[in-house]
Amino acid sequence: MSETDELLTLYWKDGCLYILDQRLLPHRVEYMACTACSEVVEAISEMAVRGAPAIGITAAFGMALAAREALGKNNDQGQMHSYLARASKQLFQSRPTAVNLSWALERIDKWLSENEGLTAQETAEGLLVEAEKIFSEDLENNRLIGVNGAALIPDKAAVLTHCNAGALATGGYGTALGVVRAAIGEGKEVHVFIDETRPLLQGSRLTAFEMLHENIPATLITDNCAGYLIKQGKIDLIIVGADRIAGNGDTANKIGTYPLAVMAAYHHIPFYVAAPLSTIDLSLPSGDEIVIEERKPEEVTRFGNQDVAPEDINVYNPAFDVTPAGLINAIITEKGVVYSPDQEKLYKLFAKV
Ligand code: MRU
Repeated sequence: MSETDELLTLYWKDGCLYILDQRLLPHRVEYMACTACSEVVEAISEMAVRGAPAIGITAAFGMALAAREALGKNNDQGQMHSYLARASKQLFQSRPTAVNLSWALERIDKWLSENEGLTAQETAEGLLVEAEKIFSEDLENNRLIGVNGAALIPDKAAVLTHCNAGALATGGYGTALGVVRAAIGEGKEVHVFIDETRPLLQGSRLTAFEMLHENIPATLITDNCAGYLIKQGKIDLIIVGADRIAGNGDTANKIGTYPLAVMAAYHHIPFYVAAPLSTIDLSLPSGDEIVIEERKPEEVTRFGNQDVAPEDINVYNPAFDVTPAGLINAIITEKGVVYSPDQEKLYKLFAKV
């Protein structure tokens, strides 16, 4: 997580993808060893690995595993391509909202069509190299997001964040938390207030774990507490990550993000989104077109293994909400900061690439 720390979200070793099982954090640090693409599909859908960039990277390695499976079945190049197309479809369906997943799969698909002449063996080797590139580029982009965003964090800032947009959600360093890390790296004092983030507690389990791990001053609060703190003037700014940013800047992120943006506007504090370009989906004109994942009722009716609601109650459990661009002061990317984001500014950002 930090420069010297060995705790990685995932890594590849000897033909096996090791995924840190985030469902067990903060109590246990255990890696799942995946040798089949179907195991990767399950790790994503069951949220052993989560966070938009992290699931994109994981899916790319899932494709590398699928290629090895096809090799093991003595598939020729043609059979391997059909095998890979099926694997890609299964990975694509594992979670719908974060665009990084389809972004990574499309990049792998493009690599495959540009390298059709390779043997099956060469294809398998090449896919692994491409997955490793996606991984290392994400880490590099997060560091750039940090550099670009640090200027927005004043010294002695109290920063509120929601969910986990840190090292655990990415190839390392983090997006929203990367900005915090970079500001601290510049010598600023920053105190992070962490929303616990019901129902799956990514804030209390993961962000709190990351902050403690690096001695970053932090305070855990319940989701309901944020407004009380903001009203008292105890929060200077809010920074979150994103799962999909539509072409006009509307942003899907963990459920509970939108009310924070409304409160930030009401109380005149900045609301920032930090995300790589791989999270921006120019094909969608607005946030209305973003598919919001609905997850199982048990995530709400249980707290860990404990039932906390009557068995027969109806449950609605959307995993994300959409914050309109008008409530976002800036989107911080690896290519620069887009203030008051809109379609024209986001298109211009891509023109820089
Ligand atoms: O359901 P999750 O844990 O995958 O949701 C994660 C988030 O909402 C993050 O804020 C987002 O993916 C950005 S991660 C850099």
